[in-house]
Amino acid sequence: MVVNIERLFSKRATRFRASEIRELLKVTQIPDMISFAGGLPNPKAFPVKVIHDCIDKTFNNHITEALQYGSTEGYTPLRNELAQRMKVKQNIDCELHNLIITSGAQQALSLVALCFLDPGDTYLTNVPAYLGALQAFNAYEANCESIPMNEEGIDIESLKRNLERLKRTSILPKFLYTVPTFQNPSGETMPLKHRKELLSIASEYDFLIIEDDPYSELIFEGKPIPSIKSFDTKGRVIYMSTFSKILAPGFRLGWMIASREVLDKIILAKQATDLCTNTFAQYVAHEYISGGYLDTQVEHIKKLYKHKRDLMLDALKKYFPSMVKWTIPKGGMFIWITLPKSIDTGLMFQKALSKKIAYVIGEAFYPEGGNYNSMRLNFSYSSDEEIIKGIKRLADVINEELSSNHQQESYVPEGV
Ligand SMILES: Cc1ncc(COP(=O)(O)O)c(C=O)c1O
Repeated sequence: MVVNIERLFSKRATRFRASEIRELLKVTQIPDMISFAGGLPNPKAFPVKVIHDCIDKTFNNHITEALQYGSTEGYTPLRNELAQRMKVKQNIDCELHNLIITSGAQQALSLVALCFLDPGDTYLTNVPAYLGALQAFNAYEANCESIPMNEEGIDIESLKRNLERLKRTSILPKFLYTVPTFQNPSGETMPLKHRKELLSIASEYDFLIIEDDPYSELIFEGKPIPSIKSFDTKGRVIYMSTFSKILAPGFRLGWMIASREVLDKIILAKQATDLCTNTFAQYVAHEYISGGYLDTQVEHIKKLYKHKRDLMLDALKKYFPSMVKWTIPKGGMFIWITLPKSIDTGLMFQKALSKKIAYVIGEAFYPEGGNYNSMRLNFSYSSDEEIIKGIKRLADVINEELSSNHQQESYVPEGV
């Protein structure tokens, strides 16, 4: 008998869709394609020699333990180093028992969803939002309420209005998800005032804040803004970060900071998911962080990415038409572009690919769609030459699109 696999899939699995974006991005492997689409660190910045030494040390000193299963919470010396770092760098009041290691920040998001979202539950996020988080939450059949961002970060008035509207229909959101610093995809940073306001609103309406923070160490200028978690005295914020952007994503190592009550549940969920995070990678990362290499690496990538951001901003200024707007991120890896309303970046995408330039269409970051005239550009991955060449190519595509739209608008059919 032929397996009727569709009948056997869970209802949940039928919600999984190949992300249109990820499918589209497969074409970025084409030779000569310049891609500003992926959210990738620059591979030239990977500290290969130091990682090699850390692997040697792991082999020489701890190889049997590193090849063994580990505890679900993670390798204790690594957790200790990270808890210490979080205290010093983020001013987060965090002890060993408040921090666990996860298989990347993505797993932390998925575990939060597993522990807090029942089918039909509602969560909030400011939009545009990180696509991977939307996918993780969607997998648990939750409803998303989008809160727009403005020049001031999250639109607080809209948040309050939406919370009141939801309250009238007895909907109590479980959490608000946000990337407050150098956000993926917009590059924007939430001001201090909004971080504090957000925490007080979360307390008033009794929901959690999921603070996803992969980029705050990649700061190019200005003073760092304290994390929302650093103001949290009641266990209302679940904080997560990752080695992906400050060491290498291939390690698949992240961490999560929360109250012990939350972590006890998360640990049970993680046991059922993967037993423990890759032990070998944790030992190597511990050699790396305890050897003092992480700070040197962070300084190195900050310089490199600032240079690349400046290069992209200069090229945008030089080649893009004057009506195009963009964010000026003070750190991180992304610039958000807003084109005139007449341009649909989804429709323009094939033309861009034919000119061998790729981006991510802005609509992808909006769970309810919309914002057709926006796009995300990554500046960390490409070489300097590719950044300049790529922006020129993109400017040509936009100019062609603008002039063809203009021609269509000014075309008057005969007989009218
Ligand atoms: C905002 C945000 N959160 C989480 C992740 C996932 O990171 P990780 O590689 O640690 O799973 C990313 C990756 O790009 C991200 O941009």
